[in-house]
Amino acid sequence: MRRKIVAGNWKMNTNVAEGVSLAKDVVAKLNEVPQDVNLIIAPPFTHLVSVAEAIKGSKVALSAQNCADEVKGAYTGEVAVSMLQSAGCTYTILGHSERRQYYGETSEKLVKKMRLALEAGISPIFCVGEMKEERLANKHFDVVEAQIKEVLFELSAAEVANVVIAYEPVWAIGTGLTATAEQAQEIHAFIRKVVADKFGAKVADDMSILYGGSCKPSNAKELFACKDIDGGLIGGAALKAEDFIAIAQSY
Ligand code: 13P
Repeated sequence: MRRKIVAGNWKMNTNVAEGVSLAKDVVAKLNEVPQDVNLIIAPPFTHLVSVAEAIKGSKVALSAQNCADEVKGAYTGEVAVSMLQSAGCTYTILGHSERRQYYGETSEKLVKKMRLALEAGISPIFCVGEMKEERLANKHFDVVEAQIKEVLFELSAAEVANVVIAYEPVWAIGTGLTATAEQAQEIHAFIRKVVADKFGAKVADDMSILYGGSCKPSNAKELFACKDIDGGLIGGAALKAEDFIAIAQSY
């Protein structure tokens, strides 16, 4: 079944103590969040074990921000999905535009990462989204479709059923610019159709598609009211428990 999800991507922010404290603040405010809204937080790797402890027994789920494209071994600096699993993660973000842009993340690598995560029972939060020039050239549908085809279409319907998609227009990330509810709904509906055409209506209907890009308490309500927007992947505003919870309350 399609789920409402508000996920916080902390990116490369906070030290361990600050991260634990933020996680505890989120847990302390959970009674303010509607029952049917699922919360996920994605701290840096170094924080995972401590944050897992801080959210233990609550409904907040733990996510990583990336994983290795190999199982284990001589890959200095990489973190394997089995490690994420043992640290308490049930999700990992994959294909974030910052990884595509700054770390050469390719679709080929992402297919490997997605497979490994899914085999380990970790749900990928798979990110797609166009750059500003692509939006201005009216190419956003093509770009997003290609990103989905190159990665998701390599997986089975059963695997895709465990994937969450996050649509994050690059021009809206950290810029204060947000896609209008209309722009976001339009492309979310398109994403669902691309998934439906390949994997069937049921997989597409059940899939949660999140919006990301300067989502904050003041605009979340309008975005989440859209038919095909099932929540948000939140960056900056997830670093303040108050704002993150306020966004989750927007449903
Ligand atoms: P901001 O909410 O800071 O724009 O970041 C969005 C994002 O990239 C979440 O993954």
